[in-house]
Amino acid sequence: MFKRTLITSALPYANGPVHIGHLAGVYVPADIYARYLRLKGEEVMFVGGSDEHGVPITIKAKKEGVTPQDIVDRYHKMIKDSFEELGISFDVYGRTTSKTHHKTASDFFRKLYDKGEFIEKTSMQLYDEEAGEFLADRYVTGTCPHCGKEGAYGDQCEACGTSLSPSELIDPKSALSGSTPVLKETSHWYLPLDKWEPKLREWILENHKEWRPNVYGQCKSWLDMGLQPRAVSRDLKWGIPVPVDGAEGKVLYVWFDAPIGYISNTIDATPDWEKWWKDPETRMLHFIGKDNIVFHCIVFPSMLMAHGDYNLPENVPANEFLNLEDDKISTSRNWAVWLHEYLRELPGKQDVLRYVLTANAPETKDNNFTWKDFQARNNNELVAILGNFVNRATVLLHKYYGGMIPAAGDFTGSDHEMINEVKETVATLTADLDNFKFREALKEAMNIARIGNKYLADNEPWKLIKSDPARTATILHLAIQLCANLAVVFEPFTPFMAAKLAEQLKIKELKWNLAGRFDILPDGEEIGKPELLFEKIEDETVEFQINKLKEAAARNQVEAWKPAPVKATVEYGDFEKLDIRVGKVLECEKVPKADKLLKFKIDDGMGGRTIVSGIAKFYKPEDLVGKEVCFIANFASRKLKGVESQGMILSAEDADGRLVVIGPTGEVRPGSSVS
Ligand code: 2FM
Ligand code: ZN
Repeated sequence: MFKRTLITSALPYANGPVHIGHLAGVYVPADIYARYLRLKGEEVMFVGGSDEHGVPITIKAKKEGVTPQDIVDRYHKMIKDSFEELGISFDVYGRTTSKTHHKTASDFFRKLYDKGEFIEKTSMQLYDEEAGEFLADRYVTGTCPHCGKEGAYGDQCEACGTSLSPSELIDPKSALSGSTPVLKETSHWYLPLDKWEPKLREWILENHKEWRPNVYGQCKSWLDMGLQPRAVSRDLKWGIPVPVDGAEGKVLYVWFDAPIGYISNTIDATPDWEKWWKDPETRMLHFIGKDNIVFHCIVFPSMLMAHGDYNLPENVPANEFLNLEDDKISTSRNWAVWLHEYLRELPGKQDVLRYVLTANAPETKDNNFTWKDFQARNNNELVAILGNFVNRATVLLHKYYGGMIPAAGDFTGSDHEMINEVKETVATLTADLDNFKFREALKEAMNIARIGNKYLADNEPWKLIKSDPARTATILHLAIQLCANLAVVFEPFTPFMAAKLAEQLKIKELKWNLAGRFDILPDGEEIGKPELLFEKIEDETVEFQINKLKEAAARNQVEAWKPAPVKATVEYGDFEKLDIRVGKVLECEKVPKADKLLKFKIDDGMGGRTIVSGIAKFYKPEDLVGKEVCFIANFASRKLKGVESQGMILSAEDADGRLVVIGPTGEVRPGSSVS
């Protein structure tokens, strides 16, 4: 049995704001669990913080002409503030540029160094001669050797997800100068993960079979592939200097220092930090996304084992990824819902986001967020089930009893049935939370509100108030106790609503052991005025968000546009085979039952012809009449939607996919040849 729980949540890189993918993957589930344990009265430390080293930060700084410190100061504040506003209840939110962290990470490295836990190795690495720097990780891009996509980074190909090392890239280019790097000798410290492989196998594969299948499976496949020594230093300027003599110009690898940040931040939180890391009665849990599994289950545990003083994690409930509107969330394409923007654009709707992200949590597989689903879950669940029940119960209590909780009479079969159902649901909900099944747990919480709605509908207190006031009192007594249950069980998921409801019901302290009880509120207590817990979300609100995404996507498409590669060389004779002419549009109209097609009557200088062209989305037919166009005159005619087309009008495709008709810039007689 453990006495206390240390919850860590992945430290987000302070090179940009956080988005809903981060929230659904890590911070919302970690917060639900921390809140749940606190409600149970358990001793909890919930650690968060910003990861402020790594190459992307320096690349961003260079691009903006500011220092890396400026970048991390900006985003650390933005991330920290937005987490707070969303109700992520960290006990500490630190940063890896802090003094404490520099010391803790240096001491950690030094201890392993002194114990002889590292291997020092010399290897050939990519070097930018123009910039005079080695090109670690993201400082180099090139073609992925696995999937052939251009633009893969030196540490990972984002297209196929493969981990890479810079020297594997085909046709590498320096992100510093754009030049082609050369190989140059450098030496680094490596942690021999292979040394820890037997222990890791036993610890994970034998003793932690209960871990989520995605986590266990990834660990197994890493272990089965065989572990290799891993470099823990880099030739970079930004980072924690390697604390040994002769290591000038070298810093700790960001993935070496970042997880030590969990320790540093605990040190900043309490002088009693050691009990959280060293006492075997402390249970450590790492909440992370699936891309961090290897670092938290293999690399960091190897570091902890090599160090020797610290506990290993007891579980690593990693989530899969969240997609947005059926597409991968992407920072570079700006295909994301950014937390700070959500908070600004949908003020007071923190609980709605928390609720929707939990209801769609990517716990066992990748999942999808859509704005339509966001609206539907708010309107059909939070408003229509939860809000509706609480509102009905509290309004009736005020109407019949002036807000004073009446004493209950004897319970009927229907009362017992409802009470038992709530108790059973609470038991299932508790088991789900204990097993990190937050989606399921949330469904059960909502089921309690459903039970309440059914209870009121079945017992119809509004009909009984005249004929059987005693029975009405019992029904409303129980209904209001059920509201109190909802305040308790929803607290981990929707803490703002829970706090508002608890205040309205005058519950001094929400505690998990109140859930399933029907004596939470004393008889005669006067509750506050009914207030709506959730508001309907209108179509305009989600349409605004959907348009915003579409606009971002269009902007990105334009920014990312590059001319298509030139096709294979052809002889002049091949070109000559095409008979391209100038024509004048005499008539133009839409082809019925075809969204894309326009039918043209063209003056071709030879008696006229009809051409059908797929540009209806880009032009109004009347705007094209009188225009000069180029067309291929010797195409075999073909039928399109029943219309015979005698040629093809030439158009150019712009970066946003728009087709623009091509014509002569000066006046040319219809029928003239183009060559
Ligand atoms: O993937 C990431 O965003 C990393 N910054 C997570 C670090 S987690 C921990 F090790 F600090
Ligand atoms: Zn690839």
